[in-house]
Amino acid sequence: MLAPLLHVDSSADREASASRQLGTLFADEWRRSGGTVRHRDVSAEPVPPLREAYARLGRRVERKGALSLDDIAALIADDDEQREWDLTRPLVNEVREARAVLLGVPMYNFGVPATLKAWIDRISFPGVFADPATGRKLLADKDFVIVNARGGGYGPGTPRETFEFQESYLRAYLGDKGVERLTFVSQEFTRVGDVPALDGLGDLAAASREAARSRVVELARAIR
Ligand SMILES: Cc1cc2nc3c(=O)[nH]c(=O)nc-3n(C[C@H](O)[C@H](O)[C@H](O)COP(=O)(O)O)c2cc1C
Repeated sequence: MLAPLLHVDSSADREASASRQLGTLFADEWRRSGGTVRHRDVSAEPVPPLREAYARLGRRVERKGALSLDDIAALIADDDEQREWDLTRPLVNEVREARAVLLGVPMYNFGVPATLKAWIDRISFPGVFADPATGRKLLADKDFVIVNARGGGYGPGTPRETFEFQESYLRAYLGDKGVERLTFVSQEFTRVGDVPALDGLGDLAAASREAARSRVVELARAIR
């Protein structure tokens, strides 16, 4: 069977979330072409924040150099480290086993939600996205698609351009992890109608929504 698409949602909103709607469009199109989807909702089922034993085990692993997941497990020294590894390894495996990864990301306070950051912190255990034998970066041959939603607008030349830490953060993080095939689709001005400062921007909001929707369908068809 073909490896699945890993679809991670992080919006706290379940009714009107733009990132959930865009992600669903992508995932439905992926299924229509015969693909399978593994869905993880880090808002509904939050990933526990890292505890001290995670850092302790991580330090021990880093001192040894690149290790397999089984070799990491063999270094566990106590129940607390076991608990942290048991919370971490399945999430790491979901990413490693995926053919492609789709992240649904709302902008919260100019960056990514804490729920997504907790997932990122946990999966970023030392060395788990590199082959210990060859050093090959395991995420290099996976497609990553990020569907961003923002209440306002952050494009080049806008007054809030320098407040954008959502896409720029994910681009830096995923690039550093060895991701080479990375695509962002952003829907902007989602809060038009709710926030008076955005009055009059309805056309921009509708255009952004339509462009994002067609782009995700196009991407789901293009990525195999
Ligand atoms: C806690 C919180 C913080 C937010 N911070 C920002 C922000 O800094 N900038 C912005 O443009 N919109 C902000 N918004 C609006 C969201 O980005 C917007 O509603 C977006 O559509 C959320 O994604 P979703 O529709 O997938 O839930 C915030 C919303 C919430 C709930």
